[in-house]
Amino acid sequence: MSLSPQPLILGLESSCDDTAAALLRGRQVLASVVKGQNALHADFGGVVPEIAARAHAERLDHCIEEALETAQVTLAEVDAIAVTAGPGLIGGVLSGAMMAKGLSAALSVPVIAVNHLAGHALTPRLTDDLAYPYLMLLVSGGHCQFLIVRGAQEFTRLGGTIDDAPGEAFDKTARLLGLPQPGGPSVEQTALTGDERRFRFPRPLLDRPGCDLSFSGLKTALLRQRDQLVTERGGLGTQDRADLCAGFQAAVRDVLAEKTRRALTLYLAEAPPAPTLAVAGGVAANQSLRAALQAVCTEADVQFTAPPLALCTDNAAMIAYAGAELLAAGVTHDAGFSARPRWPLDQTAAPLVGSGRKGAKA
Ligand code: KG4
Ligand code: ZN
Repeated sequence: MSLSPQPLILGLESSCDDTAAALLRGRQVLASVVKGQNALHADFGGVVPEIAARAHAERLDHCIEEALETAQVTLAEVDAIAVTAGPGLIGGVLSGAMMAKGLSAALSVPVIAVNHLAGHALTPRLTDDLAYPYLMLLVSGGHCQFLIVRGAQEFTRLGGTIDDAPGEAFDKTARLLGLPQPGGPSVEQTALTGDERRFRFPRPLLDRPGCDLSFSGLKTALLRQRDQLVTERGGLGTQDRADLCAGFQAAVRDVLAEKTRRALTLYLAEAPPAPTLAVAGGVAANQSLRAALQAVCTEADVQFTAPPLALCTDNAAMIAYAGAELLAAGVTHDAGFSARPRWPLDQTAAPLVGSGRKGAKA
């Protein structure tokens, strides 16, 4: 089959709690449809895999239809299908993989099995045409890792969380303080009027060498501090809440900034021609974190870049783009490809332990 020089790629994403379809030609995102599932899981304090999988199966075709309509193209014009094949909640990944396999057979076009984390990691190339190798900090509700991105299939993981992801910690903090979900934005908002020095939360793993991170102890420290305040004063006042949020956010920010400093040192030792740190994931929306990362980069004379939020959080345009890079490198998959709950980008790095609210950490 002959492909046009810039193939039209249909991307599909369904690995967690967002169902998404996108159409991409070159670096042009013709359509990117994302349907979230927050309301479906709200009563359960986390993503329920069975509910997520069912919702993906019900919504994927609507997302595809909407994307086709927005992009003003037909299915027959699609040159290839890129789909998240892992890591993630297996029921959701299967929904997407089956849809992609079916469409690929029906349309006689290639299918490309994409690693969700590669989608995030390659997004700065879609948005800013960033040159390899760059350093990526992926911080979301499900992931947290430092990667040197060397190519579409070549990643070196310098470290990652050994338990919770930072977004998960923000969400738990909000829950402990009675603030609305998702927790990141509400904790950040509440912290604006808080004093980050009133409560000193731990800075986990800073006393150990390396770039690994841990956030679960932070949430326990916050729980203890909250309970102590409640015991002493009979409840939490507005200022208590603000100070707790500010103290928690400062701890996450300081740990991420210090580990970024260490990751940059390792990356810069390779003398990259255009040293750049890129950040992706929902937590990258946090202004205090962004300012700290920007400061670390200025200090190290490294460029700092963050894709627009809609492409930082889970979406299918990033999957289509990763698919486009693989296709250009001649990589396609046959219909027998597997859906993988775990799929580390760097196969040589030691596995990270822990499995969070949003599924397996890879
Ligand atoms: O990347 P994302 O949309 O989804 C996945 O985790 O897959 O990230 C969502 C996470 C949530 O945990 C949310 O609380 C967090 O990102 N988040 C933030 C902020 N906005 C969203 N965390 C801190 N500060 C924010 N402003
Ligand atoms: Zn993600």
